Amino acid sequence: MEFRAQAAGSQALTAIATDALIVVLSAGEAKAQQLAPALASLLNDALKSGDLALKTGRTLYIHRPAGVKAQRLVFVVAADTGAKAFKAAVGAGYAAIKQGGAKQVVVASAFEAALGATHAQALVAALSDAAYVYRHTKPSAPAAPMLAKATLAVADAKAAKAVGEGLARGQAVAAGVELARECANRPANHATPSFLAAEAKKLAKAHGFKCEVLERKDCEKLGMGSFLAVSQGSEQPPKFIVLRYEGAAKTAAPIVLVGKGITFDTGGISIKPSAEMDEMKFDMGGAASVLGTFRALGELKPRVNVVGLIPSCENMPDGRAIKPGDVVTSMSGQTIEILNTDAEGRLILCDALTYAERFKPAAVVDIATLTGACVIALGHHRSGLFSADDALAASLQAAGDESFDLAWRMPLDDEYEEALKSNFADMGNVGGRAGGAITAAMFLKKFTAKYPWAHLDIAGTAWKSGAAKGATGRPVPLLTHFVLSKAR
Ligand code: BES
Ligand code: MN
Ligand code: ZN
Repeated sequence: MEFRAQAAGSQALTAIATDALIVVLSAGEAKAQQLAPALASLLNDALKSGDLALKTGRTLYIHRPAGVKAQRLVFVVAADTGAKAFKAAVGAGYAAIKQGGAKQVVVASAFEAALGATHAQALVAALSDAAYVYRHTKPSAPAAPMLAKATLAVADAKAAKAVGEGLARGQAVAAGVELARECANRPANHATPSFLAAEAKKLAKAHGFKCEVLERKDCEKLGMGSFLAVSQGSEQPPKFIVLRYEGAAKTAAPIVLVGKGITFDTGGISIKPSAEMDEMKFDMGGAASVLGTFRALGELKPRVNVVGLIPSCENMPDGRAIKPGDVVTSMSGQTIEILNTDAEGRLILCDALTYAERFKPAAVVDIATLTGACVIALGHHRSGLFSADDALAASLQAAGDESFDLAWRMPLDDEYEEALKSNFADMGNVGGRAGGAITAAMFLKKFTAKYPWAHLDIAGTAWKSGAAKGATGRPVPLLTHFVLSKAR
């Protein structure tokens, strides 16, 4: 999809010949809406007849509106003039015409003066999210929506420039989100560890990244006993993917992103119940978000170094699979009693966190669909953010706020660590039901003493269940904004 900014001015809107015009209003009073006379009269008419109210989320579709050159007109009401509300409004406005024949759309606002770069980003995010269609294994899926071009109308040339930067950043993020959704939506018989490795190589080739894939024997040599233990019940060979983007001097310490790449999580011998087990194909959402973030970096080329690490394997029950009570030795040398084979994410991440040490990182952020407990704690709107480093936590939180990809900081008090005590190893891999998202984070923390570290639990945000089942591409927006904030 093509995005552009156009200096139109609210008065000139009625003269734009386009398939569809979406006008975002602000909730509250009719007086607050700054509109050209033809639009104002349509609006007042609709308000009077009760067909529209200036309440958040309301929309009105008008076909061939009188006095307006656009073929279709949608009024949509935003909660306020902020970018987050704008995003929701554009999504709702587009939904009103999605099924129709519009190939191009102009988005304008009755609070035009307030529109800035973040509104532009919001627009791109809303329209690209809505226009995405999964097709890879569904030939009968509807063709991608025909929307080819979106224009954001702003007051003047100066605003158009500011908004243009937002559109560019938004499009890079959207490309990353799309890649993450496309990878995570693929069924596990397609999206194997080998598929993820091939995707990483393809991405590296397209954008000039370095990519290395460590095979089982390489991981054995490195002593990744914990990662390999999870993989041993599967017929699919494990892959440990290393991606490198070098946008700054070689001497600049990199940001390391570590993504959980379990391409299917049956639970292993501690097998999961059958209901909704299909959704465990999304257990590589962390890995997909790392690939998506690299996709965005390839577009934006910021002056920063970034390493992506993806330990990837399946978690299967098998004659060779790990059993509850087994003790394994991690790459760090610490031993782990595997009390529950379904707590496999932390077992593959811990070796990746140790591997990360060799990059002498400025910061390491791991991203994982790690615990059902995090879904219970935070639901589906905010990812769990864990870090003992206040500055790093604040920076990630801000990146999430800025990109409408929210996170919420969770505690990491030392007391939570007691739950991981084991009589037979340096630690157990589970800490009971209470505070499950936190004890999982405490487990990871034991492998991160050498650098500033943060953990994002995306179990509740990486995909949607039910009728809209599918990957969300989160937290690619948060991660991309975080990395950009570290560029010099
Ligand atoms: N991949 C799951 C976490 C998960 C569960 C994500 C449900 C989204 C929805 C993870 O590997 C897992 O199974 N975690 C266990 C940990 C428990 C055994 C301590 C869980 O959350 O039940
Ligand atoms: Mn599991
Ligand atoms: Zn899992």
